Amino acid sequence: MKTLIFNGSPRPKGDTACLVERLRQALPGEVKEIRAYQAQVKPCVDCRWCWTHDGCCIPDAMQQIYEDIREADWIVIASPVYFSGLTGVLMAMMSRLQAFYTARRFRQSEPVQKPKQGAILLVGGGEGSPKYAESAARMLLRGMQVQGDIPVLMSLDTDHRPARNDAEVCAAVDALAAQMKKAECTKSFSFFD
Ligand SMILES: Cc1cc2nc3c(=O)[nH]c(=O)nc-3n(C[C@H](O)[C@H](O)[C@H](O)COP(=O)(O)O)c2cc1C
Repeated sequence: MKTLIFNGSPRPKGDTACLVERLRQALPGEVKEIRAYQAQVKPCVDCRWCWTHDGCCIPDAMQQIYEDIREADWIVIASPVYFSGLTGVLMAMMSRLQAFYTARRFRQSEPVQKPKQGAILLVGGGEGSPKYAESAARMLLRGMQVQGDIPVLMSLDTDHRPARNDAEVCAAVDALAAQMKKAECTKSFSFFD
C-alpha cells in the first residue's frame, strides 16, 4: 500500500503536521509526505508545452511527484485553510497538475493509469469557511485519478484549541487510517479471488 500525502502547511509542528503525523503512524506500507513549502516545485507558467507533449518541461522536483502520484494507492491532501482556500504555496505546486488536465483534454491520453482513493484533511483557526478549500482539494484529487467517496476531516477553531487537542478529529484520523487499511486488505483478497 502506497500513500502519498500533500501537506500544505508551512509549520513543521503545526496543526496539519500533527494530524498528518498521527495518520502516518497508523498506516502500513509506504507513506510519502510532500511538504509544499519545502518541495522546490515551481508553479505552472502556462507555457503550453503539455498541450502537445506528455508531462511537463520544467525540470524540478515535480517530475518525481508525477511518478509518486501514478504509483500511489491513496492520496491525501492536508492543509490549513487560508482565506477559505488551500494555502497559496500548495496551490502553486498543484498548478503543475495542468499537465494531466491537458493530456486528457487535448490528446485523449490518460496520464494516471492506476485509480486511487483519497481523503482531505483541513484545519482552520476560526470557523474556517472551508467550502472553497474543500472543493479545490476535491478537484485536485479527481485530477490525480482519485475515485469514489472522498472523506473530509476538519479541525476548526485551532486559534483556541490546537488540532492535537481536538478529540473528534483525532478519532476521525484514526478511523480514516483503519478504513484505509481495511480497503487495502479487501483489495488484496479480491486480487487472489
Ligand atoms: C494567511 C492566513 C490565512 C488564514 N485564513 C484562515 C481562514 O480563512 N479561515 C480559518 O479558519 N483560518 C484561517 N487561518 C488560520 C489557520 O488556518 C490556522 O492557524 C491553522 O490552524 C494553521 O494550520 P498549520 O498549523 O497546520 O499551519 C489563516 C492563517 C493564515 C496565516
